[in-house]
Amino acid sequence: MTEAPNPLLEGLTVRRRPDPCLLVIFGASGDLTSKKLMPALYSLALRRLLPEKFGIVGAARSEESDEAFCERMKQAVQEHARDPFDEEVWNGLAAGMRYVTLDFADNDGEDHLAEKLIELDNERGTLGNRVYYFAVPPSAIGTLVDEIAERRSSEGWVRLVIEKPFGHDLQSARELTAKIQEHFSEDEVFRIDHYLGKETVQNMLALRFANGIFEPIWNRQFIDHVQITVAESIGIEGRAGYYEQAGAIRDIFQNHLLQLVAITAMEPPIDFTADSVRNEKLKVLKSMHTPGPKHVVRGQYGPGFVEGKEVPGYREESGVAPGSMTETFVAAKLFVDNWRWADTPFYVRMGKRLARRETTIAIQFKRAPHPPFADATEESLRPNTLLIHVQPNEGVSLAIGAKVPGQGMTIRTVHMDFLYGGTFREGLPEAYERLILDAMLGDATLFTRSDEIEEQWALVDAIVAFWKRERISFPNYAAGTWGPAASDELIHRDGRSWRRH
Ligand SMILES: NC(=O)c1ccc[n+]([C@@H]2O[C@H](COP(=O)([O-])OP(=O)(O)OC[C@H]3O[C@@H](n4cnc5c(N)ncnc54)[C@H](OP(=O)(O)O)[C@@H]3O)[C@@H](O)[C@H]2O)c1
Repeated sequence: MTEAPNPLLEGLTVRRRPDPCLLVIFGASGDLTSKKLMPALYSLALRRLLPEKFGIVGAARSEESDEAFCERMKQAVQEHARDPFDEEVWNGLAAGMRYVTLDFADNDGEDHLAEKLIELDNERGTLGNRVYYFAVPPSAIGTLVDEIAERRSSEGWVRLVIEKPFGHDLQSARELTAKIQEHFSEDEVFRIDHYLGKETVQNMLALRFANGIFEPIWNRQFIDHVQITVAESIGIEGRAGYYEQAGAIRDIFQNHLLQLVAITAMEPPIDFTADSVRNEKLKVLKSMHTPGPKHVVRGQYGPGFVEGKEVPGYREESGVAPGSMTETFVAAKLFVDNWRWADTPFYVRMGKRLARRETTIAIQFKRAPHPPFADATEESLRPNTLLIHVQPNEGVSLAIGAKVPGQGMTIRTVHMDFLYGGTFREGLPEAYERLILDAMLGDATLFTRSDEIEEQWALVDAIVAFWKRERISFPNYAAGTWGPAASDELIHRDGRSWRRH
């Protein structure tokens, strides 16, 4: 018996295919390329979403032949892709794959890369169109941008895709922007915040702006507060070199977290074009004032148990200084100072080695003004909450009060759930699939603009400045818990509590 067509799959159709192009990945020997970029490219190839005429050139310092690179990438795809491995699809992709050894400080490598690109253009018919993907630390980007501009040909378009973090603070981000703007215009630059490529984050926009029932109550009159949690159960996974410099504030707060706040709080854009959406997010970021020291909590994990397994503390992780003062947890109470949100707190928390992996946005509405039911207690009649599960178990859930069957009028909270997997029965695309494709198509809606990045850094710089003056002792939470006690105090002071797990 054939399965009946699922009407909800309608609309999951193919967008236009990008122009022929070559994708150059700087940092091709790194973690991101094998875990995310190559599996995403494979899934795009499997769905025939890549340009028909296409090639990939990997570049990094490590010595590697074209063949060895292809073989390593094949293994990465077999290990990390969301789709089953198909030899024919892989062979099609691998036929246009090359590798160039290149030290960004050395001009010879760039000449060799330029030659290889022209050669591949002729072979694959890619017309001089280039996407340069910078999967490298921010310090390596400046010189590369100069080299690319110097060798830019008059044929074809160029797009630069730049990984987060964009800079290390406001000043370095401004310097990087100035360097890029010497040669490239803003519409050629795609700054990645991969959270914006997640289906559930885009669904927040659909939920708010494709439905008439939410917008009238999406404000300070009806919403008591918002809670955003970005919790990871993993530690630093061998990336001490990066994490020691970044900490939770630069790794998550500066980018993913503030973008989630912006999308939750923004006004409706007039259309879904890059500038309309980004203008509205920018207004939110501009309306956020720096929280006072009492409204920001930081933490670092000590040893503990995560999902039943004993794990070391942060300072015992390989590559971490024994007296490291890097924070692995941040909680804060933020305000968006405008007419829609004045006095409505946005409680946010994020951290590593927390009890569970979970990213959620919880919109907690005000209590019903007067419950007429004699039996109703605060516990049984909880305020309505709209919960957006960004990951895992992607979906949306609305908590409402319902009558328990039987005599009397007993009320209990129940949940109306929409689960992506159950409704669409189609595996969700990885964020990187969407973002790589959008960059090839020249659509910057889901990428961050330089002025957004600057507002985000201004907030982080202010917090880091008062942390420098504050004394704190680490570690202050055990791995496998929900962070330091001060995080609970931050919200309990206002007579509220973190959402139960
Ligand atoms: N990994 C993730 O899940 C993730 C997630 C979000 C964002 N990111 C961002 O993506 C970027 C890359 O991350 P990653 O985890 O892949 O880092 P990684 O594993 O440390 O890899 C860095 C890559 O950059 C290359 N590189 C560094 N300096 C170079 C130089 N002077 N000349 C030539 N190549 C150089 C390295 O080449 P060699 O090793 O061959 O020298 C390596 O291929 C970072 O900005 C990171 O913040 C990563």
